[in-house]
Amino acid sequence: MTSQYRVNYHLRAHKRDHLVEFIKGMLLTPFVLHAQPQPQPQPQLLLLDERVQEANAQRYAEIFASIEELIDEHRALQADGIAAYSRLAKLVPSIGTFFTPLPLRQAFGRVNLRERISARKHVPPSFNDIRRILNIAQVMAIAPQLKMVTFDGDMTLYADGQNFEHDNALTDLLISLLRRRIAVAIVTAAGYGDDAARYELRLSGLLKGFARAALRPDEVARFFVLGGECNFLFGCSPAYRLEYLDDSQYPASLRSWTDAQVQQLLDVAEADLAGCVARMSLDARILRKPRAVGLVPNAPLTREQLDECALSSQIALLKFQGSPKSQPCDVPIPFCAFNGGNDCWVDIGNKLIGVRILQQLLAAEPANTLHVGDQFLSTGNDISTRTACCTCWIINPQETHSLLSELEYVLAKNE
Ligand code: IMP
Ligand code: MG
Repeated sequence: MTSQYRVNYHLRAHKRDHLVEFIKGMLLTPFVLHAQPQPQPQPQLLLLDERVQEANAQRYAEIFASIEELIDEHRALQADGIAAYSRLAKLVPSIGTFFTPLPLRQAFGRVNLRERISARKHVPPSFNDIRRILNIAQVMAIAPQLKMVTFDGDMTLYADGQNFEHDNALTDLLISLLRRRIAVAIVTAAGYGDDAARYELRLSGLLKGFARAALRPDEVARFFVLGGECNFLFGCSPAYRLEYLDDSQYPASLRSWTDAQVQQLLDVAEADLAGCVARMSLDARILRKPRAVGLVPNAPLTREQLDECALSSQIALLKFQGSPKSQPCDVPIPFCAFNGGNDCWVDIGNKLIGVRILQQLLAAEPANTLHVGDQFLSTGNDISTRTACCTCWIINPQETHSLLSELEYVLAKNE
């Protein structure tokens, strides 16, 4: 009989990040034991409150220091190819690769200074608190060796389906990276083939910002747009125009599928998505492109309906490729079936391949590359990059702004 635990696991697995959940569990103990409300807010108790806050900050910091140690130990075993034996791998079996250490204690100190997490009596450190602390730690660790930052488009640089407008507050921060000789690439699912004008339209505010800042040719030469996850690469000309780069102009061997294979896989995806529409009576249409097939709703669908479509097509394509146990990256034709927030898409290839293509082009190693995106659950399209580089998980363009401001601060301090 299926246990309740198994049912819950299957219902929730695609909504969880196991490392964040693990850290959250660790922080809950001091919160429950020590951070509880004091009986009365009398003047003499205010002093006590302050002491409690300090003690809490100390306890949280010690936990972050211990997790930092677990990561160091995991990294040491990673180097010997036996990371599966680490204590962290035992505690969090789905744990991946860490390309840098993570100074979590220091990052907690910095976030706590701003947000006073340790002063909270009623709300324990949350998933989002921990996600942001991990992001700050990653930024601190990678800054001295950073060569390339890749960004997701929708929800990372601009709202879903919107364009990068001329007043986007991220413009100056992206320009600052390019001026520091750090490459910037937008790695997006949006697939418009080799149509540079479509991408220029969506990014017009940023390209105008480059012109306004009079970026030099060698500075804009470090800017790239990679559409369709990994399929359509564009460089930037000295006149701030996007230029399509065909396969002969960069190392594209990671994308070695034939058109017949692509169409066969898209047929399977299309049939499965059509099955989802019929099965759940969805008010949506199916859109077929040369390297993708999408389910586009006529009226908004729920997150659960879109997750169902993404997981259903993931499983259908894994089965079709004879790899029921593997991941979408390990099959003969890698693909990406994801919930885009308002739609669901199956793309040929994925951002893991996208980031690797750019790493080859720019001679950047995983420890020199940072990917910033909003979709790190198993039904998302940024999660695949974790195999190729360091990552930061943001949830909206405002968070991208505060992350890049932090990066700017660390880079300036290291100068
Ligand atoms: P990203 O967040 O920048 O990766 O963009 C994801 C969004 O791009 C999807 O949710 C879609 O709305 C949109 N999109 C446009 N064309 C495509 C395509 O060919 N494949 C996948 N997504 C696409
Ligand atoms: Mg996105």
